[in-house]
Amino acid sequence: MGGLKGRDLLTLADLSAEEIAALLDLAAQMKAGKVNSIATVNGHVPVLGLLFYKASTRTRVSFTVAMAQLGGQVIDLAVSSTQVGRGEPITDTARVLDRYVDILAIRTFDQQDLETFAQYADIPIINALTDLEHPCQILADLQTVQETFGKLSGLTLTYLGDGNNIAHSLLLGCALVGINIRIASPTDYQPSEAIVQQAKTIAAGRSEVILTNDAIAAAKGAQVLYTDVWASMGQEDLADARIPIFQPYQVNETLMNYADKDAIVLHCLPAHRGEEITDGVMEGAQSKIWDQAENRMHAQKALMASLLGLV
Ligand code: CP
Ligand code: NVA
Repeated sequence: MGGLKGRDLLTLADLSAEEIAALLDLAAQMKAGKVNSIATVNGHVPVLGLLFYKASTRTRVSFTVAMAQLGGQVIDLAVSSTQVGRGEPITDTARVLDRYVDILAIRTFDQQDLETFAQYADIPIINALTDLEHPCQILADLQTVQETFGKLSGLTLTYLGDGNNIAHSLLLGCALVGINIRIASPTDYQPSEAIVQQAKTIAAGRSEVILTNDAIAAAKGAQVLYTDVWASMGQEDLADARIPIFQPYQVNETLMNYADKDAIVLHCLPAHRGEEITDGVMEGAQSKIWDQAENRMHAQKALMASLLGLV
């Protein structure tokens, strides 16, 4: 695949359409047990650092297991017990961690902080979620869509809810692979105009990028319905006030009737059942949510193998 050796993944737009296709192919082979990379980097097993400023279950565990399966090791650099949590500058922390670990996955608030890490460290830096984007999630989502439909280009994915980090990475990811993307959200909660424009430029007329307030119109005929929490990490105090605003965007049994009859439902998790998605839809036959969560591990294993030059 040429590999992504030495690169960073700060935004999904750091990857080309061809690179995403190659990663998804490698992730599928890894999932099928056809590629088992027992790796060394500069003569030693690779070591992944996890530096998380926010809570995580899936990302933390899937990265940890993926690196173990690659034959490497992981250091969980909980912010609360490292000096960066006490105010040591990112510019200093980045240069020091660069000398110890081979690859670093960071979950933080401000995309600029992630970019500072990448600027001051030569090792590959992976965005494990910021307020702006969640590219690793969308690699797993695309893997799930591809294994369901056998293709990506030409499908329609409708995201309902907050124009947040997930919406942003979906916009870029769908545009890159040729999926038509519709974002249905309340007027004041639409995604970043800059990212919408970037997605439109990438899609370049090959696929649609549509923003709307109309959940039903957006759901009509879609092959994928996708939702996420109405208040992200760091916005907990806004959650109650948002419930009535977002209620029309709930993914429920009624909305499912408007989608393609073979449509699947995705949610990055954690979910608030009864808010953005009903219990019945989450547990229903069209839900691919658990496959989606599993694919985090395969997609990130492929990503790390590629960034470390192991494949
Ligand atoms: N989807 C996701 O990133 O989950 P975690 O917050 O549990 O890592
Ligand atoms: N938008 C959510 C995604 C969690 C995986 C958040 O940022 O909290």
